[in-house]
Order: sequence, then C-alpha cells, then structure tokens
Amino acid sequence: MTHDATILTHLRRVADTGVSGAALASILGVSRAAVWARIEELRRLGYEIEASPHRGYVLRAVPDVLHADDLLARLGKIRIIGRDLRVFHETTSTNDVIERLAIDGVAEGILVFAETQTAGRGRLGRHWISPPGLGLWFSVLLRPKLSPMATTQLTVASAVAVARAIESQTQLKPQIKWPNDIILNGRKVCGILTELSAEMDRIRYVTLGIGLDVNQTRDDLPPELLAIATSLRIESGRTHPRANLALALIHELDEVYHRVNSGGFARISDDWASRCNTLGERIRVRSGDRTIRGTAEALDDEGALLLRTEHGRLERILGGDVTIEK
Ligand code: BTN
Repeated sequence: MTHDATILTHLRRVADTGVSGAALASILGVSRAAVWARIEELRRLGYEIEASPHRGYVLRAVPDVLHADDLLARLGKIRIIGRDLRVFHETTSTNDVIERLAIDGVAEGILVFAETQTAGRGRLGRHWISPPGLGLWFSVLLRPKLSPMATTQLTVASAVAVARAIESQTQLKPQIKWPNDIILNGRKVCGILTELSAEMDRIRYVTLGIGLDVNQTRDDLPPELLAIATSLRIESGRTHPRANLALALIHELDEVYHRVNSGGFARISDDWASRCNTLGERIRVRSGDRTIRGTAEALDDEGALLLRTEHGRLERILGGDVTIEK
C-alpha cells in the first residue's frame, strides 16, 4: 500500500478520534515532516484533513475524485478484476490504454479509469461523451478461457454486474436492454463496449469498456440526447460519490467474471432475464445493413438473443442495435 493509501486508511479507521502525526510517522516509518508533506498533497487533491493539537489529523470530507491507491486500499477481497488499477486524468479512450497494456503482456484484471476521455467510443462507431468528473469511464483487461463465440456472455454478465451495483448503491431499479444498455425510466444510463482480439478458436484478450453517467444534471447533457440518455443523479435527485460506485462495480464485475469462467453463466442469465426489458417485446435489430423484426424470446447459453421472426423462424442474434417497437 502507498503512503497516501495508508494515511487515508488510518484516518478512516479512527474517524473523529483523529490520529497524531507522530503515530502516522511511526506506522509509515518516515519523519513527521514527510507525513505532513503527504497530508498537504492529499489536501491539494481535495481531501479535507483537519489538524488539531489535541486530536491530530481528522478526515472531514473526501472529494469526488478517483484516487487509484485509495480505491485499491478500500477494495477488499477480489479475485481478478481490480488486482491492479490506474486512474488517468485524461486519455483518448480507456479501451486504447487497455489495448496497449494487453499487447505488452500485462496480466488480466487491470482496470483503467479516466476522469475524462477525448475520444471515448461507443458501439457501432459512435462517439461516447465523457465529461470530466461526472461519470465513471473505465476499461478492464480480460483473458477469459472462452471461445470467441461466447464473448457475448461477458457483455451480458457485465450488464448484470452493472445493474446490481447501481441497485445496491442507489436503490434505483435498472433494466437491461440486450445486449449491453443499462436503462432507467426508459433512458440509457450506461453503455458497455466489448472489444475482442482473437484467433479462430482462441481469445487473445477482451477489452471491456464501461461508461456510466453518474452526476450529470439535465443541463450537462447535450440537448439531442435528453430524450434518450440520463444519469444516476437525474433519476435519483441526488449526487453519488463515484468512488463508492466504482468499488461496488469492481466487486460485482469480479463476481460475474468468476462465474462465467467457471461455467456458471446460466445463473447469471436468470438474473439477466428478470432485469431485461427486451424479452417478450417486439423488436427490430439492425446488424450491418440487415434489419430483422420479431419477438425477443430468450437468451441462449452463450448469451445470444433468440428472436422469433414474423415468419415463425427462430433467429440467433449475436450483436446489433436493438429498438423496441411500440
Ligand atoms: C455503447 O453503449 O455504445 C458503449 C459505450 C461504452 C463507453 C465506455 S466509456 C469507457 C470505455 N472507453 C471508451 O472509449 N468506451 C468505453
């Protein structure tokens, strides 16, 4: 654990009681002046740390910033996702960063957040707007033991994980639109972009990119998106500390990833079905220049959507843009 993370961990543990500079210095094995320098740096990041002659240092407020060491220190037990974690102030796309790490041979599980992205991307070549400090823009490197055909399982499982984390942190009840949109009151709050590098029968790596709109107000959203996009703040009427959400997301993602890797996708797909707003609906799926219409019947054991067409045929859909027809 870094010095900053150790200091923050102790400050959280002692709460109002406070901890002296001398005690922190002895825990860290550094001088009191060195502790003071770290406290100053944390203050510069926005941590409100009071210093009193009687109680020592007391943590009064934490800023809504993502601090990699602090997140790692607070994460607790995980299996793979979040084993390593980095926060960029700005990047083109966190998926680009993960791709470079993957090519360099970095182990799976590493997670990269950015406070803002200058070239965030969505599915089907769309642009993903990522304003600084208002959302969670992050990507994870995975090296699953799945066939390339089963990658849809990862997208579906990730959508379940995101829905669970939103629910536990906000009490909102998100729905899932197949395969990867998280919906609140009919509007999209989160998108997932799964990018795959594979050979015929083997996945080299998967970049799982997730964008969650957290603290935007309606004024922060571009007018053309108001009818289709939303944020947790707009839906709940309050702001949400992004670090807490980030930790819940990492835990849920780690859990579903473990299940998918150990052949437990069926259990996740039951949860997916109960949260899905697509099943039973008449939908239109656009995939490349092909459009198929029908009723969404079920999810198969690889995460594909089974669509009953107007002609009674069952089509297996692996990707595409879904519109629910009224
Ligand atoms: C979609 O719904 O079209 C998927 C959107 C995915 C956006 C996230 S934000 C973090 C990661 N980096 C990107 O450039 N895209 C994903």
